[in-house]
Amino acid sequence: MEPVTRHPLIAGNWKMHGSQAFAESLSGAIAQSLKKPRAEIALIPPFPYLTAVAAAIRAHQAPIDLGAQDVSAHAEGAHTGEVSGAMLSDCGCRFVLVGHSERRQDHGETSAQVAQKFLAAQQAGLIPIVCVGETLAERDAGQTDKVVLSQLEAVLEVAGVEAFEHAVVAYEPVWAIGTGKTATPAQAQAVHASIRARIGANSDTIAGQVRVIYGGSVKPDNALEILSCDDIDGGLIGGASLSAESFVEICQAVG
Ligand code: PGA
Repeated sequence: MEPVTRHPLIAGNWKMHGSQAFAESLSGAIAQSLKKPRAEIALIPPFPYLTAVAAAIRAHQAPIDLGAQDVSAHAEGAHTGEVSGAMLSDCGCRFVLVGHSERRQDHGETSAQVAQKFLAAQQAGLIPIVCVGETLAERDAGQTDKVVLSQLEAVLEVAGVEAFEHAVVAYEPVWAIGTGKTATPAQAQAVHASIRARIGANSDTIAGQVRVIYGGSVKPDNALEILSCDDIDGGLIGGASLSAESFVEICQAVG
């Protein structure tokens, strides 16, 4: 495979935290500190704060993208509580998470539904960040690759490998999310390499280009060793993205 340089992506997933005032001050502080980031940066606030965060980024003229935490599989219509890809684009989003483990666990989202959301996101011109990851029980049972690759497979089957030219994969071991336990660089690198190899079975070129980012208790003090692994092309940052100081420090650990 030809060596390709993949531009790293660091995305801050705020989950369901904060208020409008918090969203404005956090995004303002991040935007002010990241005028010339070495990575592509995305902020992923709760839906109601998307436009406030977009405004803060614009005000600071910072090269930061906006993302959303979920998207409806439907394009429009009678789907109370859902938010369409077109609406997210309209609010200035470039990225959207699909299949975050908290959606899979709390809302019973299946890999088939995640694949439909992936399609809906791309149809609206968004870049889906498809999240995959195993639980601790699955890892202990030696099923990590099987679980992660079957979650990926569901999307590959429906969307085709070409769709990954405009997509990101996030490997997030469920046992590492918000727990303070991080996969070791070797554990993470091994799964990232499996993900890339699975995509490479369909297209070497796309496997070389697709960004596979890591999420799960990434903090300023472990970011460098995780983010410097060969097949790790950035991070999906939860808890540490709620402090401008720690998020900016992680963003500066790449490149
Ligand atoms: P964490 O969350 O960094 O708090 O572990 C990561 C995520 O769930 O995206």
